[in-house]
Amino acid sequence: MVASPPPSIRPDSPELADQAGEWRSAYVHIPFCARICPYCDFAVVEGRQDLVDRYVSALVSEISMSVDWDTLDAVFIGGGTPSQVAPMLIGEILESLNDKFGLVDGVEVSMEANPEDITARSSRGYRAAGVNRLSMGVQSFDDVVLTALGRQHTGGQALRAIEDARSVFERLSIDLMYGDPTETEASWDRTLDSALAAGADHISAYSLTVELGTPLSRAVAAGAPAPDDDVQADRWERAAERLSERLIRYEVSNYATDAPCKYNLATWAQGEYVAFGLGAHGHRNGIRTRNLRRLDRYIETVEAGQRPIAGETVGSGWDRELERLMLGLRRTAGVVAGAAGQKLLEDHPEFVDAGIIEQREGRIVVVKPLLTDTVIREVLAVPPQE
Ligand SMILES: C[S@@+](CC[C@H](N)C(=O)[O-])C[C@H]1O[C@@H](n2cnc3c(N)ncnc32)[C@H](O)[C@@H]1O
Ligand code: SF4
Repeated sequence: MVASPPPSIRPDSPELADQAGEWRSAYVHIPFCARICPYCDFAVVEGRQDLVDRYVSALVSEISMSVDWDTLDAVFIGGGTPSQVAPMLIGEILESLNDKFGLVDGVEVSMEANPEDITARSSRGYRAAGVNRLSMGVQSFDDVVLTALGRQHTGGQALRAIEDARSVFERLSIDLMYGDPTETEASWDRTLDSALAAGADHISAYSLTVELGTPLSRAVAAGAPAPDDDVQADRWERAAERLSERLIRYEVSNYATDAPCKYNLATWAQGEYVAFGLGAHGHRNGIRTRNLRRLDRYIETVEAGQRPIAGETVGSGWDRELERLMLGLRRTAGVVAGAAGQKLLEDHPEFVDAGIIEQREGRIVVVKPLLTDTVIREVLAVPPQE
C-alpha cells in the first residue's frame, strides 16, 4: 500500500507542508511523445521511439553514476510521455533507483501517462513495475477543446482509460487545462463534472499558458485568439468551487482527497531531489542542477561515461530564502514567514490591508490564490535583509 498521511492530516495541513521538506525524492524524465502538442515547452521529442531502449539504458547508467544519497520517499516519472515506454523498462528504471538509493517501505511512485496509452493491461504492467500513482493527462473531456489543443485522445477514450486505471491503481490523478479559446463555460463545467464523477483522488487544473517559442505562441503572434486572463480567472474560480465539493485544494492548482502527491509537496517545501534524464532539474545541498536538453547529446554523453549536467546554480543564502517563500506561498498551508516573509509584510502592508495575504501562527498565507503571482513578483523584489 502507498504511504499516505493519516486521515487526521489534511493535504493542506501546515504540518504536512513543512514535514515534506525532509522527504527525499527522485525525478526521472521521459521525453518521448507520440506527437508534440502545440502549447508544450517541456523537454520532448517526437518520432524518436527508435531511441527508447538506448535512452533507458542511458538513464540506468546515469543513475548508477550519481553520488550516493539517502533512501527515497517519493519518485516522480514525468515527461514527455512515460506511458510511451513499456512497463518492463519502467521497472528497470525503478530497480536501478532501488539499487542505488533504496526506496522506503511505502515509497510513492508517480508516473505521468497519456489516456491513449492506458488500458487495463498496460495499467497492470506499470503497477507490477512499481508505479502506485498514475497521473493521467486528460486536459479536457470536450472533443472540440481536445482537437484545438492538438491532443491525440477523445473525451470518451479518457473516460475508458480512467476506468481501466482505477481498477488497478490505488492513487489516480487527472490533469486538466482550462482557458483554450474554444472552451466555453458550459464545456469547462462538463469537464469538471466528468473529472469528479470519474472518481480521481487528485486533480490538477492548470490555466493554458502561451509559452514562448512554441507553435501556439507563433500562432498567437500571427493573430490566432489567445487565452483571455479574465476568462481564465473565472474558470479557476469555477474549478475551486466545484472540485472543493469532493477534494481539498492544497496548492493554487492542485486538489486531493486524503493523499496529496508526495513529490509535489516535497518540491514546494524546497526539499531535495535527484533528477535523471533529458533536461531534468535536480536540487541538492543548496545547488540546483540541470541536465543537457538535446537528446543525442544526452545519450552520447552518458554512453561516454560522463554525467549529463549542463549547468548548476548556487543561490546565495538570501536567494534561497526568497525561493523558499515563493514556493511555499503557492500552498494553501502557506509558509513560515522567516526573514524574507517579515520583510515582505513590512514593505507591502497593502497586501494584508486588501485581504490578499494573512498572517497565521507565524506563517504567511495567500488567501486570494488568484493573486499569488502578483505577491510572488513582489517577493522577487524584496531586498536582502541588512
Ligand atoms: C508536460 S505534461 C506531461 C504529461 C503528459 N504528456 C500530458 O500531456 O499530460 C504535464 C502537464 O503539464 C500541463 N501543461 C503542459 N503544457 C502546459 C501549458 N502550456 N500550459 C498549462 N499547462 C501545461 C498539462 O496539464 C499536462 O498534463
Ligand atoms: S503536453 Fe504532454 S503529450 Fe503533449 S507534447 Fe507535452 S509532454 Fe508531450
